[in-house]
Amino acid sequence: MPRGAGEARVASYYEKEIRRDPGSAVGAPFVRRPVRFPSAFVTVSNPDSLLAPEEVAHAIAALRGLSEERDVDAWRTQHLGRKSRLMGSLRALGGLDRSRRAAVGRRLNEAKAQLGAALADKQAELKARRTQDLASLDVSLPGRPLPLGGLHPITRTERAVVAAFATMGFHVIEGPEVELEYYNFEALRIPADHPARDAMDTFYLDGPDGAAPLLLRTHTSPNQIRYMEGHEPPIRLIAPGRTYRNEATDATHEWMITQTEVLAVDRGLTLAHLKGTLYEFARHLFGEDREIRFRCDYFPFVEPGVEVSISSPDGWIEILGAGMVHPEILANMGYDPEIHTGFAAGLGVERIAMLRHGIRDIRRFYENDLRFLRQF
Ligand code: PHE
Repeated sequence: MPRGAGEARVASYYEKEIRRDPGSAVGAPFVRRPVRFPSAFVTVSNPDSLLAPEEVAHAIAALRGLSEERDVDAWRTQHLGRKSRLMGSLRALGGLDRSRRAAVGRRLNEAKAQLGAALADKQAELKARRTQDLASLDVSLPGRPLPLGGLHPITRTERAVVAAFATMGFHVIEGPEVELEYYNFEALRIPADHPARDAMDTFYLDGPDGAAPLLLRTHTSPNQIRYMEGHEPPIRLIAPGRTYRNEATDATHEWMITQTEVLAVDRGLTLAHLKGTLYEFARHLFGEDREIRFRCDYFPFVEPGVEVSISSPDGWIEILGAGMVHPEILANMGYDPEIHTGFAAGLGVERIAMLRHGIRDIRRFYENDLRFLRQF
């Protein structure tokens, strides 16, 4: 039978089924029914090509050698399945002339019985083995522990920082790590010739000619501008994320660190609100007894500016910079600095994690040494 012709018949058979299925017209699921070939489809030109007795013996010998369920299944498909030689031969019987049909039919049915019996034996053998395996299985033994992953210590600390501010009504925003020079510097009152740029050298990205310069942000402060541009006070947000600097690494410096920006803008906010908020934060993360120190510091986008350190066995460790949002920035954002004031802070999450866990070298966090990471 030429293949194409057979396929054409199958296709039209399905079509008929579809047409006959009243549900399919209204989109009900259509169930494909298996196709039965009428035996007249199969013609046999040479009846001697039907399954021979040696083939049966050969197949049974092959089956005896199998020991895996998977292989036995494959054997069954090959020798007794719909597409097997045996089944094909049985289907072809109708095409034989009467005189031969009875003899060949008997032979084929015998072969089918032999193959079936051999398969049943093999399946019984496999089943016996399975029960034996089960008998030697002690279900009361403790299970094998699965290695569970854990959150990175920086992620844990970042979440603790977010949780501390969330209790004070701050909500979380996020901004891009690849940032416009404008948001990272200019809008924060750090013009190109400002000395603060030296301390914040970073990685610049090549853009198309004439495009605004792109860089990896050096701090999370650009989020202040991005948010104030589109919102009116009152504002109370935190913005956690990664920041980058072109920095020689040592025990307290990395070229990538995690910061969390804090920004509040409202009527009548003062440095007292900033201090109160940061004391409350420190109490959350380090407990009541840890000492916290405020000192004057300078950042172009705040006035006045402070730095905050936490006491540790190694002395004071600076964990954040902060201050009152510069009135010029508030005015640039369209706010009236006589009415609205604000405070901002930028926390170093790695430093906080080091203090919480007594870690002395910031580089440990990103070396991917499991002996270190498994401790958390
Ligand atoms: N962005 C500053 C830094 O990375 C920290 C800071 C944030 C200071 C907000 C003041 C106010 O060093």
